[in-house]
Amino acid sequence: MIPPETDATADHQRASDMSTAEGSPAEPAQEAPNLKEMGVREGAGHGVHVKGLRAFYGDNEAVKGIDIEFPANQVTAIIGPSGCGKSTMVRCINRMHEEIPGARAAGSVTIDDLDVYGPGVDVTSVRRMVGMVFQKPNPFPTMSIFDNVAAGLKLTGTRADNLREHVHRSLRAVGLWGEVKNRLNSPGHGLSGGQQQRLCIARTVAVEPEVILMDEPCSALDPIATLRVEELIDELKARYTIVIVTHNMQQAARVADSTVFMLDGEVVEHAPTDSVFTNPRDERTERYVTGKFG
Ligand SMILES: Nc1ncnc2c1ncn2[C@@H]1O[C@H](COP(=O)(O)OP(=O)(O)OP(=O)(O)O)[C@@H](O)[C@H]1O
Ligand SMILES: [Mg+2]
Repeated sequence: MIPPETDATADHQRASDMSTAEGSPAEPAQEAPNLKEMGVREGAGHGVHVKGLRAFYGDNEAVKGIDIEFPANQVTAIIGPSGCGKSTMVRCINRMHEEIPGARAAGSVTIDDLDVYGPGVDVTSVRRMVGMVFQKPNPFPTMSIFDNVAAGLKLTGTRADNLREHVHRSLRAVGLWGEVKNRLNSPGHGLSGGQQQRLCIARTVAVEPEVILMDEPCSALDPIATLRVEELIDELKARYTIVIVTHNMQQAARVADSTVFMLDGEVVEHAPTDSVFTNPRDERTERYVTGKFG
């Protein structure tokens, strides 16, 4: 269970630095987490189980006791009107919510048998296991394309001779290799928006997470770049469990195996994507997906 109050610790800070800091990471290298010891099965993908999750900003309850199962190796889309708690819910999965001053969570999030909020659980390991891709591509501005992908790997202690191989493999995995192989030392911010977003996804997959959270990953991209990222999501699900927040119904219909409709901090409906869009059980879902509100 999640403790009623969670304070930011040095560990939290270190992990958040990983996704926001500029320049070379200065932290000492860490061993990769031993997933088995942490309660996460080796091998195939790992499901995420959210139970009774509540999330607060001060006295404001933004997520009001929700249960969601995110099956392994599937893409689950989260849809719902602005302010309904999608980003807040997703940020609770990798413990980023607690970074916000005054924010706290209650309930439970587990990945296989690992209680993400369990006592003694290392937050850095959780965030390595649960990668996050944001709305706006956020490559580290002072770093080259190569170093952007290498940044997380250096934190996890990947040796220099393996580093190149890992970086190249990650760039291939996101379909960026052909476009950047001759300019690996150029700044990451010199890429197009769509390329930058794929670079950020490469940075995320480089550390071999188990789960990838994407919060409106295509909202700053044009339709072609969006399609490229959607194709990539489809390829990545063979290896990862993917949660994608989107305002784009067509996108949810294209990429997601199942779709969750949230409203006012609650889950209204979670069903196979086809059924959410063509045969919703709840009248509120129907009104939302047909554009009658939200
Ligand atoms: N940092 C914050 N401090 C205080 N309240 C917040 C903060 N972030 C979000 N909230 C509040 O929590 C509620 C849920 O916000 P959240 O960002 O999770 O919604 P969302 O569904 O992701 O919306 P959008 O589709 O606009 O991104 C809203 O009422 C919002 O105002
Ligand atoms: Mg949001």
